Amino acid sequence: MLHIDIITVVPELLDSPFAHSIMKRAQEKGLLTVECHNLRKWAINKHMQVDDYQFGGGAGMVMMPEPLANAIDELQSSRKYDAIIYMTPDGPRFNQQTANQLSLSENLLIICGHYKGIDERIRQQYITQEISIGDYVLSGGELAAAVVVDAIGRLIPGVLNDETSALFDSFQDNLLAPPVYTRPADFRGSKVPEILTQGDPKLVAEWRYEQSIQRTKERRPDLMED
Ligand code: ADE
Repeated sequence: MLHIDIITVVPELLDSPFAHSIMKRAQEKGLLTVECHNLRKWAINKHMQVDDYQFGGGAGMVMMPEPLANAIDELQSSRKYDAIIYMTPDGPRFNQQTANQLSLSENLLIICGHYKGIDERIRQQYITQEISIGDYVLSGGELAAAVVVDAIGRLIPGVLNDETSALFDSFQDNLLAPPVYTRPADFRGSKVPEILTQGDPKLVAEWRYEQSIQRTKERRPDLMED
């Protein structure tokens, strides 16, 4: 059972990603709960202000420390978080290993940045882990948070059934997944590899493993280096 709190200035962006498919099922089964909190609830004034100009000048607003600190303090008073995560393009890059580790948590708190980011003092005093989902800049951390929650959520034991088991995903053993086929066995003259239609599970497993290795060598040799 994993509970994830997300602090955001645009909670609407997170309405859909967890409301369908596997994330929906994980929540219905009681294995995952995701709660989005609008940072404006902790705004410093009646203008609902949560950001301000940056000291030293320059374009772009910065998310103020008080609303974030008050939000985190309040949430922390009822839960002990395994990690307080800040989504930011300058964090370490997210991968399957980080997803595996985080999926073992009980409580996670994710902070989504906007504008120029959050005041550095919040990063120093509250954030225990920073995550980037790739070397590009999104307009906010919400879509990145959705990616991370999805990757973690599907790894919680019981969320996937045997057939969709995460054990055979790409990256789980530093290998890409093998090619997959479904009906028809002959699609416009292009045939499914015979081994897959002959029904010998051992040969199928060997073929898939070889295909995985070949794919990884061709497409992602960097994965095989470690
Ligand atoms: N916020 C903006 N860009 C991001 C990225 N690449 N990863 C995580 N959070 C972000």
